[in-house]
Amino acid sequence: MAAERRIRVGVLFGGESAEHEVSLQSAKNVVDAIDPERYEVVLIGIDRKGAWHLADAARFLASASDPRRIELRTAATDLALAPGKSADLVEREAGSALPPLDVVFPVLHGPMGEDGTVQGLLRLAHLPFVGPGVLGSAVGMDKDVAKRLLRDAGIAVAPFITVGRRDGAPAWSVASAELGSPVFVKPANMGSSVGVSKAANELEYEAALDGAFSFDSKVLLERSVTGREIECSVLGNEAPEASLPGEVAPRHDFYSYEAKYLDDVGADLMVPADLDEATARRVRELSVRVFQTLCCEGMARVDFFLTTVADEAFDEGELVVNEINTIPGFTRISMYPKLWEATGLSYPDLIDRLISLALERAGREARLASAIDLESADVAAGEGA
Ligand SMILES: Nc1ncnc2c1ncn2[C@@H]1O[C@H](COP(=O)(O)OP(=O)(O)O)[C@@H](O)[C@H]1O
Ligand SMILES: [Mg+2]
Repeated sequence: MAAERRIRVGVLFGGESAEHEVSLQSAKNVVDAIDPERYEVVLIGIDRKGAWHLADAARFLASASDPRRIELRTAATDLALAPGKSADLVEREAGSALPPLDVVFPVLHGPMGEDGTVQGLLRLAHLPFVGPGVLGSAVGMDKDVAKRLLRDAGIAVAPFITVGRRDGAPAWSVASAELGSPVFVKPANMGSSVGVSKAANELEYEAALDGAFSFDSKVLLERSVTGREIECSVLGNEAPEASLPGEVAPRHDFYSYEAKYLDDVGADLMVPADLDEATARRVRELSVRVFQTLCCEGMARVDFFLTTVADEAFDEGELVVNEINTIPGFTRISMYPKLWEATGLSYPDLIDRLISLALERAGREARLASAIDLESADVAAGEGA
């Protein structure tokens, strides 16, 4: 075994989105947990402008332990990724190719990372990668599209209104009459609670719209669901499995950015969640259905509300899907790896599984593509004859 070459994993992190800092924290944890005997890590830091840099494992982050000051240190080497089967990563200035990567682990949250864009680029470069493909990533990022697909599959989601333009938003009286009060206002394509707020009157509503529209040109207005926040990790390609469910109990008004990443005691995490057996089973089954409905592969975390009161929209004890995260957090407090640990899969084993799932899918896709090539070759030959 010792003679075997280590698998070269490119870890992509940072990025242009408002979740840049969260990604830095996640990347640090992934790198710390990856088994150096089996994997050679190539760190690729993406700065806020979107440029790729080769980073040095020993010093790629400044203020790594302080989430308010954590920062990407960019080294001199700028990288480019070339399309096609052979070239991969190239040093931009020297023009020389780096040793080829075997697989990429995108540890990027939010737009331009988690939304199918990077996944498309990696496919063009014929690089296997961890997590959902182009479609699953794009669908999972867009809360409006994801919720419509779930609703179509008969899966409960909070009633919502999608607004395409700031000046096209319904008046507070209309929104609150339809959705009740308070209303949650959120950008369609974002995460980590960036731009999410809760509005209980006209003044708050207008401010919430301004906030959400500063992050996206599409915004969701949602009925507020009263319930416990339950999360479940899903892992797998064609036969995905769900972890034990966990629970997040925010100590803030809701699970805001502050509560998630800045406040050390912003939320209580229960791993596993205190649920009766039947409810836990329902969460796990529904998580797999959500994962498949939203075209996911590899990994995702599915977040629910378990309602605690009956109202016009839901009975008590209903599972309402809030959202899916196709690149879930891997920070120190993140649920995705914690839930797998509680289910019996350690952090390093989880990384192993994610990488082998990425390689397995890439192998399957490569076979598919060559089958199509053969077919079109036949057609071409037939036409020529
Ligand atoms: N419809 C809702 N009802 C009640 N709470 C909500 C609702 N939507 C969001 N929240 C609260 O806001 C948090 C962030 O919203 P979420 O939709 O999960 O956005 P993000 O993708 O940024 O995590 C949730 O964890 C929850 O605490
Ligand atoms: Mg969320």
